[in-house]
Amino acid sequence: MTSFREMRFDDLFKINSLVFDAHTEVYSLTFFVKHFLEFPGLTQIAEAPGPVRRGMGYIFGYLDKHNKEPHGHVASLTVSDEYRRLGLATALMDYFFLISDLKGASFVNLYMRSSNHAAYQLYCSLGYAHCRTMLDYYPDHPEPENAYEMRKYIPRSMEFISDYTAN
Ligand SMILES: CC(C)(COP(=O)(O)OP(=O)(O)OC[C@H]1O[C@@H](n2cnc3c(N)ncnc32)[C@H](O)[C@@H]1OP(=O)(O)O)[C@@H](O)C(=O)NCCC(=O)NCCS
Repeated sequence: MTSFREMRFDDLFKINSLVFDAHTEVYSLTFFVKHFLEFPGLTQIAEAPGPVRRGMGYIFGYLDKHNKEPHGHVASLTVSDEYRRLGLATALMDYFFLISDLKGASFVNLYMRSSNHAAYQLYCSLGYAHCRTMLDYYPDHPEPENAYEMRKYIPRSMEFISDYTAN
């Protein structure tokens, strides 16, 4: 059975094969480790059954508290080719949304390439909406590509909002 757990440092070697997809965002080790240490709960890896526990996909993100509205930001989400259309990305995104909610986020957002049809379908199916377009966000050569910011708000009672803003 597929299992889900928080990522550990040694998983960085396990996910190497997953990051070759052109749509998967890759970050420097420093960036990854910084957020990983601060928000271990906001990374998760899905593993295949069997002795090797092969990495099937992962999500990595952080809580942005510097904004007027604190929010969960998905920095990277990817599922290995062989395991797509099984609901793994949906499970990883649902988990991220739940943890962001528990940490007091107002919404969850992410940036995606405007040409990434599969990702757009996925996020729309989960209730994310296109919120803005950032022109030439991805500095590809010869043609840069636009990014879509996708966002989903976390329903909150008015009581929670006034408590949160009072503290
Ligand atoms: C996008 C990606 C994460 C989807 O992962 P996944 O585990 O296959 O997604 P799910 O199985 O949870 O799909 C849920 C829904 O998303 C939509 N969807 C997913 N992949 C799709 C595709 N290739 N084409 C159209 N719709 C798609 C469908 O509505 C799907 O529901 P359905 O299978 O019942 O039709 C995966 O294709 C991937 O890793 N791509 C490369 C990296 C990437 O693009 N990451 C996102 C960067 S923003």
